[in-house]
Amino acid sequence: MTPGTYFLETFGCQMNVLDSQLVEGQLRACGLRPAESPTSADVILFNTCSVRQHAEDKVLSRLGRLAALKRRRPDAIIGVIGCMAERQRESLFVQVPHLDLICGPGELHCLPALLDQVRQRREPVAALAGTQSRRIDRLARSLLEDEIEALDAARDSAASDGVLQAYVRVQRGCDKFCTYCVVPFTRGPERSRPPQAIVAEARRLVDRGCREITLLGQTVNSYLHQDGGQPVGFARLLERVAAIDGLDRLRFVTSFPADWDEDIFRVMRDQPCICPYLHIPAQSGSDRILKAMKRGYTVAEYLKLMDLARKYIPDIALAGDFIVGFCGETDEDFQATLDLVRRVEYKSLFVFKYSPRPGTTADHSRPDDVPSEVKVRRNNELLAVQGAISLRHKQALVSKTVQVLVEGRSKAARRGGPRHARQLVGRTPHDLIAVFDGDQSHVGALVNVQVTAATALTLTGRIASIISPSRSNRLGVVSLPVHEAG
Ligand code: 5AD
Ligand code: SF4
Repeated sequence: MTPGTYFLETFGCQMNVLDSQLVEGQLRACGLRPAESPTSADVILFNTCSVRQHAEDKVLSRLGRLAALKRRRPDAIIGVIGCMAERQRESLFVQVPHLDLICGPGELHCLPALLDQVRQRREPVAALAGTQSRRIDRLARSLLEDEIEALDAARDSAASDGVLQAYVRVQRGCDKFCTYCVVPFTRGPERSRPPQAIVAEARRLVDRGCREITLLGQTVNSYLHQDGGQPVGFARLLERVAAIDGLDRLRFVTSFPADWDEDIFRVMRDQPCICPYLHIPAQSGSDRILKAMKRGYTVAEYLKLMDLARKYIPDIALAGDFIVGFCGETDEDFQATLDLVRRVEYKSLFVFKYSPRPGTTADHSRPDDVPSEVKVRRNNELLAVQGAISLRHKQALVSKTVQVLVEGRSKAARRGGPRHARQLVGRTPHDLIAVFDGDQSHVGALVNVQVTAATALTLTGRIASIISPSRSNRLGVVSLPVHEAG
């Protein structure tokens, strides 16, 4: 491949953030260097999300703006990778005539070869999933040789040098087919990665200075593989990763309530490096809606699980996703969701307005009948209820000390505000965001922060002591963005 520059913009969930990091590793290995903006880049890629229409519209608008650039510089390669490529397939070439390449999330290991093909053939190329069979059972499928394992396995550990926090994939795809969701179509069947590969990848990252690992899966607790003929479920996998010497923090997202195994709580309780944090979407507080979504649990079952979580880990921070305005959602259903949120007392919530996705069961069989202004109102009301809960939780921490892993300069400091010139940002084990003054030597350290003030989103404080100094002498440690989807 002719070296040059690339620009890659990522939309959507943590899985996409990880895919983009791995794709960047591949591009750099081919000699490409990052460009500041698409205007000057030789290869322009968008790693896309299809979960809601809004996410797709954003990408289409970015692509529209590149038509003039492509006329000026016909050699520039423009590509769409990820879920939107898989969902829209070749029809994207019709919608966006200046597009050169599409590549689904399961084919990203082919990207360097695809770029070469575009250069040689001067015609659009596509790499999309063939028919991935769901007819064989989950374990058998995971044991089949998985070509895309190549993408994770080839993670460039040199590029991970000094990275403070990292994602490690444990599983690809999803078999749940919640009626609103496009992910099982775009990311294909659920396949777990071999436990040895996951542990080895995590260990390499820790050896290079990584202090916090987040295990990723669409339904991470459904993980199932085997080792030496013995089944390895998620609890056993967690135990093995938690045993890695030098790992300070271990998290995992996203959990699926109906597949929960109590043993996971036991491991969380007994392994000090596993953060007391659980992202476990309920999606609705109404049994009628949960049934229509095909989530596989009732509100009572979900609540029982949350009580069990608190029995094992009393201070656990719970995070959830909710969809408002799903087909047929009445005021009564929505009130039930508000009740659930008040009852569970989440640490934080991600709220989404229902967006019909072509090809899903809900889109075939149910009208999108909640008016958009009602969706907006319910969205705001749910966030307001949660906002009050979050504020109360955070205010209870004022004058207390929390443990923080220092991720870097805060947004305010990066914007150049003189009042915040020395402001740093980091997270507690409960995934609370804290800001406090410090200097570059604190970045990458584990510190105790005494909380002096709190809003619903952020704790403010001052460093009270250093628990353990930074292990990296590299400036500009990469930190991970907060959750958007999963
Ligand atoms: N419309 C709105 N929200 C959705 N999600 C998934 N599909 C849809 C959809 N069609 C939300 C769910 C999921 C999160 C990643 O996105 O809450 O947990
Ligand atoms: Fe799978 Fe989550 Fe989508 Fe349900 S919402 S189909 S569990 S990715």
